Amino acid sequence: MIDRENETYDVVGIGFGPSNLALAIALQERGLDGSESGLSSHFFERQHRFGWHRNMLLPSTTMQISFLKDLVTFRNPTSRFSFISFLHASGRLPQFVNNQDFFPTRQEFHQYLEWAQSQVAGHVSYGSEVTSIQPVQDATGEAPDRLRLTVVAGATGQVDRVVEARNVVISTGLVPRMLDGVESDERVWHSSEFLHKFHCMDPASLRRVAVVGAGQSAAEITRFLYDQLPHAEVSAIIPSYGYSVADDTPFANQIFDPGAVDDYYFGSEQTREAFWRYHRNTNYSVVDDEVIRDLYRRTYDDEVRGVQRLHFLNLTRVVDVKRAGPETRVSLRVGPGGETRELEVDALVCATGYHSMEPTKLLRDLDQHCLRDEAGRFRMERDYRIATTPYLSSGIYLQGGTEHTHGLSSSLLSNIAVRSGEITDSIVARGAGLSTKRSMFAQAAGGIR
Ligand code: FDA
Ligand code: NAP
Repeated sequence: MIDRENETYDVVGIGFGPSNLALAIALQERGLDGSESGLSSHFFERQHRFGWHRNMLLPSTTMQISFLKDLVTFRNPTSRFSFISFLHASGRLPQFVNNQDFFPTRQEFHQYLEWAQSQVAGHVSYGSEVTSIQPVQDATGEAPDRLRLTVVAGATGQVDRVVEARNVVISTGLVPRMLDGVESDERVWHSSEFLHKFHCMDPASLRRVAVVGAGQSAAEITRFLYDQLPHAEVSAIIPSYGYSVADDTPFANQIFDPGAVDDYYFGSEQTREAFWRYHRNTNYSVVDDEVIRDLYRRTYDDEVRGVQRLHFLNLTRVVDVKRAGPETRVSLRVGPGGETRELEVDALVCATGYHSMEPTKLLRDLDQHCLRDEAGRFRMERDYRIATTPYLSSGIYLQGGTEHTHGLSSSLLSNIAVRSGEITDSIVARGAGLSTKRSMFAQAAGGIR
């Protein structure tokens, strides 16, 4: 274990995906990057290098937001960390503009994120997983104003470091959701591990493959498998009658505007319910129009050639998976009548979505000081701080896991620039003693959600 007694930061970020990368930049742009007068900060990331959903970096897949919703532009349009600055630095700005497309490939956006992280990498420890957050209790028994984080080195699995923080920003990302009772292995994969598991296999051994789900991940993987395995039968197990299109039309897209966070947070129960009832189809169990058309075109062309190898099993859900050696037997409940059917495959991909971010495991004993609503979810202040009992004066902020209080953009990229700025403002304001118990936002609103 590295001896770093007194390693105390004003801000420690757990996880270094796009959300905390945006925060690192927001802190730096406030001149708060560890300079004498500013706040000190450090970020811990369990991956050995920066990576944004690497196992889903499939060829030609595109972003689901405009390139202008990058790490910074909505907060600071003149930032040197913008996607446009990246294009300029890469010598591709004219070509990008000629392309006349708001939606870069995921591969290019990944390059942008890597470029941005390389400029703040001095504040990040990779291969470092935070396993717990505990209060620092001093001899006086006063309310702890610091938190102690235990960091494990990925390579050794040993405790590597213990650091203290006045504020913690948790941004550990979505949690893969498998089929009930099914575990992933070398032939049953969750979409989040797709490319890694796929490349571990001999493609020739994959003659029958199936993909579960009717969301963006499922459709993209189905298209990829069909294209990469020209000898294989590809089955798409979809619970709906056909893929539904993701609504990204302009009026619906307003729910991802920064202002929509206030409408959701300060809105009535009825307002929040309307967001979900009318606009869930902007994000969940839906697919981009272009991918739907691509898949339909492939199956139609096959039909014309009389060689059908792409099978859409609609109104179908997986109810069980049995594994034995190279065999995988999938039990399906099919159609309106609910008959059961068996499908044997060489590999099964569960594109069954994600649970939202859940920091309870990290918080351990601290969890008892975090307030929860009637449904057991964290009560949140407007500045993304978990509402706590007076016992805690340090800030525990969440980037993600706040859909119930801050709306649909919580787990997406749409609002990360503005959200990071708001968290930075809150930390500065609280540090300056403007408010210790309630954020300026919550004060303005007179309430906590
Ligand atoms: P993200 O999951 O990216 O990062 C969390 C990081 O925390 C990870 O790097 C993880 O390793 C690390 N970590 C976890 N636990 C840790 C611990 N205990 N200690 C240290 N590190 C830890 N949204 C959108 O708006 N537009 C889009 O185009 C897409 N595209 C997209 C594609 C795919 C395939 C998926 C699955 C999702 C999207 N999304 C999206 C939604 C997605 O949530 C979003 O793009 C970001 O990944 C959110 O960034 P975060 O930094 O919050 O989480
Ligand atoms: P998702 O939208 O939550 O879809 C999961 C799918 O799995 C749903 O259709 C669900 O159907 C289905 N499912 C669950 N259990 C099932 C069962 N037993 N049998 C059959 N189907 C079952 O998840 P996702 O596609 O991974 O998308 C998650 C997020 O990642 C979204 O924000 C998406 O936009 C994003 N994403 C973006 C890109 C990109 O940028 N290019 C690529 C991939 C993903 P029910 O709803 O009926 O349960």
